[in-house]
Amino acid sequence: MDKLWAGRTAGTTANLVDEINSSIAVDRRLYKRDIAGSIAHAKMMAKQGIIGQREAEAIISGLKGIEEDITSGKLAIDPTAEDIHMFVEKVLTDRIGDTGKMLHTARSRNDQVALDTKMYCIEEIDSIDYLIDQLLKVLADKAEKNLEVIMPGYTHMQHAQPVSFAQHLMAYAMMFDRDKSRLVDCKKRMIERSPIGACALAGTTFDIDREYEASLLGFTGIAMNSMDAVSDRDHFVELMSALAIIMMHTSRLSEEIIMWATSEFGFVQLPDEYTTGSSIMPQKKNPDVAELCRGKTGRVYGNLMSILTTLKGMPLAYNKDIQEDKEPLFDSVETVKLCIEAFIEIVDVMEVNEKNMYESARKGYINATDLADYLVVKGMPFRDAYNVSGKIVSYCLGRGCALEDLPVEEYKQFSDLIEEDIHQRLDLRTCVEKRNSAGGTSPSSVMKQIEYIRTIID
Ligand code: ARG
Repeated sequence: MDKLWAGRTAGTTANLVDEINSSIAVDRRLYKRDIAGSIAHAKMMAKQGIIGQREAEAIISGLKGIEEDITSGKLAIDPTAEDIHMFVEKVLTDRIGDTGKMLHTARSRNDQVALDTKMYCIEEIDSIDYLIDQLLKVLADKAEKNLEVIMPGYTHMQHAQPVSFAQHLMAYAMMFDRDKSRLVDCKKRMIERSPIGACALAGTTFDIDREYEASLLGFTGIAMNSMDAVSDRDHFVELMSALAIIMMHTSRLSEEIIMWATSEFGFVQLPDEYTTGSSIMPQKKNPDVAELCRGKTGRVYGNLMSILTTLKGMPLAYNKDIQEDKEPLFDSVETVKLCIEAFIEIVDVMEVNEKNMYESARKGYINATDLADYLVVKGMPFRDAYNVSGKIVSYCLGRGCALEDLPVEEYKQFSDLIEEDIHQRLDLRTCVEKRNSAGGTSPSSVMKQIEYIRTIID
C-alpha cells in the first residue's frame, strides 16, 4: 500500500506491516475531533500568515464536507488507510487538490493524535458525568421512597444493626458523587494543556500561535514542553483509573442486587424485562445485567493495567507503542457508559420486598446495641451495658425468642434498670429512627443526604 509519507522510502509496505501498523479500525471513532482540530489548525495558520486566507477557506470547507459525508454515510472510512489522520488528509487532497497538502504544515500526527484523544477524553467525561447525574437522581428518588423500609445492615456479612434501605442506597450515591469529582478533577488538568503545536517533538520553525489554536478548541492553556506534550498520556491513566473505580462501585452494587434477588434473601425482584432465562431450567430468572456489570469490571481494570504497562519505561518522545493507548481507553469509556445506563434503569425498576427485608432484620439480635444504649441512658457505663446486653442475647438464644419479645419480668433478672419502655425502644423502627446522628440511618438524616445529592446534580 502506498503512503502519504513516501519519500525517504518508497512508501510501499508489506501487507503484514500494514496490518500491524494500521490503527484505523480503532481511531476511526476520532474523525470529528480530528476534523475539528484540523479546522482550528488551518484558522491559526491563516491568522499567522503561514497559509493564505483563501487556502484556509478551501481547507476548512473541504474538511466540513468530509465530516458531513462521513456522518451521513456518504463517505466510508477506508479500512485500509493507516489511521484516521492520514485518511482525512488524503480525502481532503483528493477533493480540493494541492491546497490540501498544506494542512500538515507546522503539525505532526504526534501532536494531532495527542490532541484528538485529549478532546475525546474531555467530551466523554462530560457524557459520563451526565450519566452519573441520572444515576444519582434515580438513587435519590428510590431512597426517598424507601426511607422507612427497614433491612438488616451487615458487617462481616452478619446482621449488625438495622438500617433503612434508603441509607443503603445512599451509600452508593456517595460513591458516585466521589466518582463525579474525580472526573471533574482530571478534566480540569486536561483542559489546561493543549498539546497541539508540539509538532513531532521539538516544536516548529513556523511562527505559530498555540494559545489561539488551543482556545479555538476549548482549551484554556497549552502544554509547556513539546516533548512532554506528544508523549504524555497521564490523562489516559487518570481517566481510566477513575473509570475503574466507577466499575468497582457498580460491581459492588451488582453483587448486592444479585444477592438480594436470590431465594435466600428475597429482598428485591427485577421485572421480567430486566432478567434472562435459562436454556434448560424453565424456572430460572437470572440477574444477568448485574452479573455482566460485575464481570465487565475485570476488563476495565485490565485496561488500566494495559495503559500503565504501555507507558512504563517508554523513552521520550513519541513511540509507536502509544498507538496501543486507544483501544483500552475506548473500551473503558464505552463499558462504563453502558453499565451506568443499565444501572439507571435497574435501580429504577427494582421492586423492593419490604416484608422480607423486615422479617430478615428481625433475626440475628440486630437490636442488641440498642439494648446496651438503653441501659447507658438509664445510667449504666457502656462496657457494662454491652456485657449485660450480650448475656440477654445469649439467654434469648436459649429461649428461642427475639430481644423485643422477651417479657419485662425476665429482663429484670439481668438489670433493674430495664422497664416497660424496653419493647418500644427495641422496636426496629425506633432503632432506625434514633440513629439520627449526621450521616446516620434515621429518615431525617437520610433525607439530608438525599437533599445534598440533589444539589450536586448539574
Ligand atoms: N496512529 C498513530 C497513533 O495512534 C498516530 C501517530 C503516528 N505518528 C507517527 N509518527 N507514526 O499514535
